[in-house]
Amino acid sequence: MTVTNTTDTKKDSGVYPPSPQFAATANTDAAIYEKAWSDRLAFWAEQADRLQWDKPYGQVLDWDTEEFVANWFVDGKLNVAVNCVDRHVAAGNGDRVAIHWEGEPGDSRSITYAQLLADVSRAANYFTELGLSAGDRVAIYMPMVPEAIVTMLACARLGLMHSVVFAGFSSAALRARIDDASAKLVVTTDGQYRRGQAAPLKGAVDEALGGETPNETVDHVLVVRRCGIDVDWTDGRDLWWDETVVAASPEHAPAAFDSEQPLFVLYTSGTTGKPKGIVHTSGGYLTQTAYTHHYVFDHKPGKDVYWCTADIGWVTGHSYIVYGPLANGATQVVYEGTPNSPNEHRHFEIIEKYGVSIYYTAPTLVRTFMKWGRAIPDAHDLSSIRLLGSVGEPINPEAWRWFREVLGRGEVPIVDTWWQTETGAIMIAPLPGVTAAKPGAAMTPLPGISANIVDDEANPVPRGGAEASGYLVLDQPWPSMLRGIWGDMERYRETYWSRYADRGWYFAGDGARYDADGDLWVLGRVDDVMNVSGHRISTAEVESALVGHTAVAEAAVVGAADETTGQGIVAFVILKSGASGGDDVVAELKAEVAREISPIAKPREVKIVPELPKTRSGKIMRRLLRDIAEGRELGDTSTLVDPKVFDAIKG
Ligand code: PRX
Repeated sequence: MTVTNTTDTKKDSGVYPPSPQFAATANTDAAIYEKAWSDRLAFWAEQADRLQWDKPYGQVLDWDTEEFVANWFVDGKLNVAVNCVDRHVAAGNGDRVAIHWEGEPGDSRSITYAQLLADVSRAANYFTELGLSAGDRVAIYMPMVPEAIVTMLACARLGLMHSVVFAGFSSAALRARIDDASAKLVVTTDGQYRRGQAAPLKGAVDEALGGETPNETVDHVLVVRRCGIDVDWTDGRDLWWDETVVAASPEHAPAAFDSEQPLFVLYTSGTTGKPKGIVHTSGGYLTQTAYTHHYVFDHKPGKDVYWCTADIGWVTGHSYIVYGPLANGATQVVYEGTPNSPNEHRHFEIIEKYGVSIYYTAPTLVRTFMKWGRAIPDAHDLSSIRLLGSVGEPINPEAWRWFREVLGRGEVPIVDTWWQTETGAIMIAPLPGVTAAKPGAAMTPLPGISANIVDDEANPVPRGGAEASGYLVLDQPWPSMLRGIWGDMERYRETYWSRYADRGWYFAGDGARYDADGDLWVLGRVDDVMNVSGHRISTAEVESALVGHTAVAEAAVVGAADETTGQGIVAFVILKSGASGGDDVVAELKAEVAREISPIAKPREVKIVPELPKTRSGKIMRRLLRDIAEGRELGDTSTLVDPKVFDAIKG
């Protein structure tokens, strides 16, 4: 097994039991594990009962072991948006702030649940007027503005599927996603603020929809005015949000949808160049996002101020900005910009301003804070923080301890949450107030979740010891599991279910190990997926962007350990004969990847090489390239056709 992550998880990093004060008021205690195990499906039914169902479900789970598609809360009917908005207003909490929104330039808005209900209803009414109906797909290509969340909820309200495309993605990436899902509507903004500057965004939509073969599925582009910058306009297709949605009625009667009504598709990188459209549905997804948000973050509605720093372009934004917190009636902060706009104090000022009590972020940001130095957070009153969370990649013990010491006064619990776009919600994490956490360990599958670590032959790996790592599998279906890959169920079965098909286990693509106490440590991807600042990027995607450049004959890409971003992308490129090497072409190739995919996929380093190391069957040996990229002694080169190729590459 090759594990691409190099976090040193073997070091003893200490154990951090919960404080008695935290445990005394925690949302749960250790008995919850036993309860879940004694009757797993009854436990999930109890969690589903946090939701408002228009028609009660019958069977809890119908699991198809041939197709690997689950039906959770069978025949139940609900409306996801009603669960996230209306019912809080009906319960008398309409005046509670749902979203404290902080714009990058310093403007801010606080939106109550009652206002959110009016906004979502207006959008739902207007989307209906546009002729959209349940099952249609809507692409959302927007920065972190409230209208993005309103659009997602309006889609949910009407049974439309949203497909959020991260606003940092290129027009080519946007086009591929619009086409794959045959979206009918695109919602965007005129521009987005990036480090104090307004950068155009709508232009990328125009570019995506035009080109040599114009897109034919999109009828309308709805544009939110965010920066007040000029945009090109296509009459009949383009519409201003503030002239349409804002003028629609704030009252909308919602319909109830089946528990398995598709809620969204979200694209993520796999091992081939083509991103996978991960499909999630309604009842099970909302049950598990609400359940995990309640217990893993020890969330207390009406008291906590919660902040998840993710972008809605990723699954973390879907599950832990939109659906989980809003289903639980949370008051949360949503911030539009980067952590250093206008300077490195920004996040800490926001924590202070709103009294943030739960702060959920990514290890890469913690390491960036460490680089900036503790004088910055120390200049602020962060005493409102009572819980910290981490997601996206394994958190190295040093960053874990710094996070707790500097942001958490050395006393608050940290929840390191392992999950994926595909799992929809948190799967493995400590429970605050219950688990004695270890820095760097995701610890224990949550109550109701069953995971295992196994070898190629499906044997469980032993606890502790040097050879104790294996593949992470989920050996029981869970409510928020993906229901497929949009338009490609064959790829779905092949990617996730073929490796342990006879057992019916989900293969997560991560390596993991148990320590001697039986606690679980996630080690990182075992496939050709890189993790850069918590973003999943496939080597094949970057390679295909590189070979798309006229000067390139062949390219191989690896993720190499990086102090700040977890992994950095290193590309080995063979130029076509006649193409000239040098700094220009390197800069040009980096720019090409940023243009084709996104600046987040830009290689840290491009090495122009005369040859690539290959096995006799012609497979590029990435393991050896990774050795070079990380400056290590070369591993086993015996299967190489021509071991001398390395002298040429390294030279
Ligand atoms: O390798 C694991 C890593 O991120 C992958 C999932 O990426 P994505 O679908 O983009 O979702 C990210 C946010 C949920 C996983 O296969 N990963 C995520 N969280 C952790 C993690 N690795 C270790 N520890 C984590 N807490």
